[in-house]
Amino acid sequence: MRLLVIGGTRFVGRHVVDAALAAGHEVTLFHRGGADDPFPQAEHRHGDRDGDLAVLAEGEWDATIDVCAYVPRQVRALGDALGLSGGRGGRYVLVSSVSVYADADGPGATEDAPLAVLEDEDTEEVTGETYGGLKALCEYAAVEVFGTSTLVVRPTYVVGPYDPTGRYTYWVQRFARGGEVVAVGPREQPMQVVDGRDLGAFVVRLVEDGASGAVHVAGPRSPYTVEDLLEETRAAVAPAGTSITWLDGAAAAAAGVTPADLPLWHGPDLDWLGAVDPAAAFARGFAPRPVGDTAADVLAESGVTPVPDGTGFSPEREAELIALAESL
Ligand SMILES: NC(=O)c1ccc[n+]([C@@H]2O[C@H](COP(=O)([O-])OP(=O)(O)OC[C@H]3O[C@@H](n4cnc5c(N)ncnc54)[C@H](OP(=O)(O)O)[C@@H]3O)[C@@H](O)[C@H]2O)c1
Repeated sequence: MRLLVIGGTRFVGRHVVDAALAAGHEVTLFHRGGADDPFPQAEHRHGDRDGDLAVLAEGEWDATIDVCAYVPRQVRALGDALGLSGGRGGRYVLVSSVSVYADADGPGATEDAPLAVLEDEDTEEVTGETYGGLKALCEYAAVEVFGTSTLVVRPTYVVGPYDPTGRYTYWVQRFARGGEVVAVGPREQPMQVVDGRDLGAFVVRLVEDGASGAVHVAGPRSPYTVEDLLEETRAAVAPAGTSITWLDGAAAAAAGVTPADLPLWHGPDLDWLGAVDPAAAFARGFAPRPVGDTAADVLAESGVTPVPDGTGFSPEREAELIALAESL
């Protein structure tokens, strides 16, 4: 198939392109570009989607996979650039997010749950507050412009090699150092992740299958908690003798810990956005690898999977919080 990927060089898109090339598809990447563009075997068209889509004036594709739309204007402008109803782009695939929902319904939330509504639908400011509502508006714009053949992919936390966020990589690196590792409760917080490589392969499979509609991409299949995730990660990468000390969430909050301080911590209360119902994806052939395999690969590929400075606890802060946990 001829596939146009909008984005495709960083993390999620990079894995989509990798999977598409491995499956023998012809791939065109549209992005701003730079000296270090990956995928020399693919065609690159350079432009800024915020106003400079002229390089898409020529060409025809079977599907367009849009990995970097954050506001609905970007979806509409892309549709215009690809001809009537975006027709030269073929089937439109929007990489959206499980953050689109109005309420955190928890592990039972299916793809038809109501979507978030923004107070100001004209905002283009992407923040933690507006991200999900803006992605929901992108989804509506996608169907409006490209029609009902549109495929909307809603991933949960994406992890694995090339992840620039450090969110999961922090935990892999921390466990690999060994010793006593502090984690903050509630340990039964529902949690799902998807390895970027499994997401990329599944997106390509859905495109090959001609899928449309919305689908979660989250695993594992059975209910999973943050404790399960950390234990599986520890088992995969930690030296013998590494232990986890759980600090009560309310005590951590009282000691000044905020969700910004600790990756994957949602605060002291259970947050049901951590999990959605992934049944539809599994029914369509989603086959995620075990999280432990992802952990081992993240460690092996630490050169391309950096943890941004300031992510997680410093050794001193961790020692303080362990002392606090032990005093309770
Ligand atoms: N990470 C998660 O946990 C998670 C969870 C759920 C959903 N998602 C969704 O997954 C996607 C994340 O994608 P990613 O960043 O990893 O994807 P990516 O496609 O690998 O990287 C972003 C791409 O967009 C290009 N780009 C950025 N701004 C552009 C512009 N103005 N014009 C043209 N190209 C532009 C960048 O290339 P240049 O710099 O060369 O332009 C790069 O190729 C997002 O849609 C996000 O909402 C992520």
